Amino acid sequence: MTPIDGRAMARALTDRIAADVAALVGDGIRPGLAVVLIGNHAPSEVYVARKIAEAARAGIASFEHRLPADTDEAALLALIARLNADRAVHGILVQLPLPPQIDAARVLDAIAPAKDVDGFHPVNVGRLSTGTGGLVPCTPLGCMMLLDSVIDDYRGLNAVVIGKSNIVGKPVAMLLLERECTVTVTHIATRGLPEIVRAADIVVAAAGAPRLVRGDWVKPGAVVIDVGITRVTDTAGKARLVGDTAFDELGHARAATPVPGGVGPMTIACLLANTVRAAEAAGRG
Ligand code: GUN
Repeated sequence: MTPIDGRAMARALTDRIAADVAALVGDGIRPGLAVVLIGNHAPSEVYVARKIAEAARAGIASFEHRLPADTDEAALLALIARLNADRAVHGILVQLPLPPQIDAARVLDAIAPAKDVDGFHPVNVGRLSTGTGGLVPCTPLGCMMLLDSVIDDYRGLNAVVIGKSNIVGKPVAMLLLERECTVTVTHIATRGLPEIVRAADIVVAAAGAPRLVRGDWVKPGAVVIDVGITRVTDTAGKARLVGDTAFDELGHARAATPVPGGVGPMTIACLLANTVRAAEAAGRG
């Protein structure tokens, strides 16, 4: 089995993005990313800090907006309206999850689709499902780049997606369908999941269930992409990240992504790529 090195691929992608950013800056456009974080959800703090650090590495300006956990929806919508109108901001990312008093769907609807670097706005979701462009969610985009590093021809391959979230499961299924895979989307209520996964040439595990996919679920020669990141504490009290697959049992797979060091770094690199795309499109006006 070939481990797919997401860290190395993300580094290479970020270097290419930095070159694109330098070219844009030469044309008088500094790509700008606004990151909005509400409250103090610990994993979100870590993700946002990484996104801002990687943006800086690529030469992208970032604008961090931290709001208290009791922020009301009107205040957040007012901030989004300001960011939509701000010409220095090409991408807007509102970190999820949001506190319960805020309706996430209303917030995502309020982001200008051209600045929606998460690809969560209904216009971008519709564009993805109709294959008509738009900004594509970062994690699914990263999954496809990782798959592209080992698969040339997707036509007719059986792809099984585990998880039906709007952030990963549904959009990655659309991207695989676009490549003419035969796509099966499974989820928590799916019956006979091991048998379904055994038929897959491509497995994308995005269920958030640690080590759900065992070695004997995976067909020899399959390619496995692990989107799961669950923080667990081992018996010695040490925290570590565990994916949705038992990576150590995948020796017979053709290729697989480890956790950490697989999908995670690619997600952030794809966010930067989307920000540059949005800035280029704004520059073309
Ligand atoms: N929370 C977990 N993943 C994501 C993501 O990709 N984007 C945003 N905005 N929030 C998230």
